[in-house]
Amino acid sequence: MMNTEIYNVKDSGSPEYRRAISRGAELLKAGELVAFPTETVYGLGGNGLDERACRKIYEAKGRPSDNPLILHVADFAGIKNIVSRVTATAEKIFAAFMPGPITVILPRAACVPDAVTGGLDTVAVRMPDHPVARDLILATDLPIAAPSANISGRPSPTNGETVCHDLSGRIGAVLDGGSTDWGIESTIVDCTEADGEDTVTILRPGAITEEMLREIIGTVKLAAVKNKPEPEAGLKRAPMAPGMKYTHYAPKAPLTLVTDGEALRTEYRRRVAAGEQVGVLLFAEDYPDFESDYKCSIGSRESLREIAAGLYDSLRFFDELPVDSLLCPVVPDEGLGVAIMNRLRKAAGGRII
Ligand code: TXA
Ligand code: MG
Repeated sequence: MMNTEIYNVKDSGSPEYRRAISRGAELLKAGELVAFPTETVYGLGGNGLDERACRKIYEAKGRPSDNPLILHVADFAGIKNIVSRVTATAEKIFAAFMPGPITVILPRAACVPDAVTGGLDTVAVRMPDHPVARDLILATDLPIAAPSANISGRPSPTNGETVCHDLSGRIGAVLDGGSTDWGIESTIVDCTEADGEDTVTILRPGAITEEMLREIIGTVKLAAVKNKPEPEAGLKRAPMAPGMKYTHYAPKAPLTLVTDGEALRTEYRRRVAAGEQVGVLLFAEDYPDFESDYKCSIGSRESLREIAAGLYDSLRFFDELPVDSLLCPVVPDEGLGVAIMNRLRKAAGGRII
């Protein structure tokens, strides 16, 4: 166990903020790990050019080593250092959505260690739009490798307490900037198209939606969850984000999604009658009238943003309760709902009724 330093970085004008940024940068430059907020979820940062620091990230999270990391940069100069080529689709995405909740896959530069890319010829690059993330990266003058700051297989953390719950004693420091804005991880887009093509593939849905990408890119494909490997096309790249094959975001009690409100009540009663303790996630509108000892509101069905922002907290909420199983309604599979449903399906391991 190591002593994890915890800093409050909610007020960017405070002396503690400045101290936290410089101490965090010092730890990162020394090869230690620092968790920090981004606008999506908290990241567990390490020096992205240091093989040993990257190995520490895998160890601290208990993450399989074939699941590559995203490199975080503060500006476009930072991107040029870690990729060998910026494709035309990537240029368009930079202009439209960066900094912001999106990650692009590009051919890697030679300086990027295998520990980051999992041996692929590509690298994942993200420029977060959060003052703490930006200030921390700028203070190190390094690309920062950062997966979500959770123990592997658990929901990503969206606040400082959750990071501490998972990683306290395993990492150098936590910069606690309060709750994150989006609450789900960035959209990942493969931008390694062949010359002259105007095509990208979404490997992981997120806040930057398919519709938004279609406004600037000719063809936007969605990677199937279980994609067959593509025929070798020169570049060794992943047909899907490698991490998508693992059971992710799993709450401790098995979760089942239910496609309509009446069916949810029926299934709830059936399980309770069978002697089960059942936890239910509910839209805010249904929460007051649903009688259960173990219930949690996931936000208004009118606001996908609110649902996304609180989703992982809702899943983790039940981990502290003596429930045998969980039920959750679905949201429409469109816009931000695509990302929410992607995470919910994974959390449910495909159980849906
Ligand atoms: O919002 C986010 O993206 C957060 C914050 C901290 O930036 N980070 C995050 O990292 O979600 P992580 O490690 O939990 O997820 C990264 C995903 C994994 O599914 C991984 O397989 C994929 O990115 N990935 C990384 N490098 C890749 C590559 N070269 N090709 C395809 N997928 C890649
Ligand atoms: Mg993750």
